Amino acid sequence: MRVAVIGAGVIGLSTAQSIYEQYHSIVKPLIIEVYADRFTPLTTSDGAAGFWQPYINDKGDAQERKWFKETFDYLLSCLRSPDYVKMGVFLESGYNLCTMPTPDPTFKDTVLGFRYLSDRELKMFPGYSYGWFDTALILEGKTYLPWLMDWLAKRGVKFYHRKIGSFTELSKNGVDVIINCTGIRSADLQPDSDLQPARGQIIKVEAPWLKHWIMTHTAKGVYNSPYIIPGSRFVVVGGVFQLGNWNEQNDSADHKTIWEKACQLEPSLRHARIVDDWTALRPVRSKVRLERETLLSGTAAVEVIHNYGHGGFGMSIYKGCAQEAARLFGEIVKEKGKLPKAHL
Ligand code: FAD
Ligand code: BEZ
Repeated sequence: MRVAVIGAGVIGLSTAQSIYEQYHSIVKPLIIEVYADRFTPLTTSDGAAGFWQPYINDKGDAQERKWFKETFDYLLSCLRSPDYVKMGVFLESGYNLCTMPTPDPTFKDTVLGFRYLSDRELKMFPGYSYGWFDTALILEGKTYLPWLMDWLAKRGVKFYHRKIGSFTELSKNGVDVIINCTGIRSADLQPDSDLQPARGQIIKVEAPWLKHWIMTHTAKGVYNSPYIIPGSRFVVVGGVFQLGNWNEQNDSADHKTIWEKACQLEPSLRHARIVDDWTALRPVRSKVRLERETLLSGTAAVEVIHNYGHGGFGMSIYKGCAQEAARLFGEIVKEKGKLPKAHL
């Protein structure tokens, strides 16, 4: 079986990993190739804060809730290995701050030590009257993506730096299954009116005294309200969430707004050294597209598994999605009669 994964962000690389993990010992030969026009450190997944948290008001899809939890539990289990430092994953506690009483979030029982904020804690954050404290995870793309590429390369996965113009381009070349993990540019390969960009801009600063993440939730929406997320080297300060905006350049007016709002929330930021601004597009959809499709190209058929549209939560849901995509791959393998008898 020859599998081509398009996309080398967290979704493409982790899907390649899950397919390898679940099938390398039973599908022989299993050739996995990854095609992308942007590799680490230039993907959207590289710059994200990597904070694990679903949208707080998202009651969403039951399947997505399951994938979020699977991702959290997977990352938590990784902490048992000494190698987790090389993956860029670590625990971090912090505050969700709201301007009004808010229903409990869906992730309440997934994160560790979830509790309501006390009045003394709320006094530290003028303007906020309600909130929660919990311990969650950070997964830094800039560390995790090179780690994943290394993991895959060691197992024989090949990487090709090029733009794919169509699915046919790969099927004509003898590929049996295509995994579409192209994020916000998926609609270039197949029209999708449900997919749109939500432009995000963040500021990276040096402020090693900040140890807790702070997410605020106001009428403007979560990522349009200030957030502060300490990472292993830098603190990520955000943000904006501009639906329909395709501009990938940093914007000085956005920088000013983000900075002023964040300094109101955490005045000590005025002493922080600003290191960088970073802008990228969240691939927003009403729900993640994770499904199989058989495409006809002339008289030949090619199987495509779509895995894209992870909005502002790709680092929080990716592993559950990768495992589901691998399960769909298993269905195709079975249908093509490529499983040995013991696995039918
Ligand atoms: P990408 O990382 O964009 O990868 C897409 C890949 O597809 C790239 O390799 C690209 O080259 C390739 N590609 C596309 N089209 C083609 C083609 N035609 N041919 C070849 N290659 C192609 N999520 C969280 O969970 N936690 C956070 O803290 C967080 N913070 C964020 C902060 C900001 C400012 C932003 C913008 C996003 C944040 N996100 C966060 C969301 C997260 O970054 C995304 O959901 C995630 O990166 C999407 O991953 P992806 O692999 O689908 O896309
Ligand atoms: C975002 O800006 O998309 C984001 C920020 C923090 C956590 C998750 C997502």
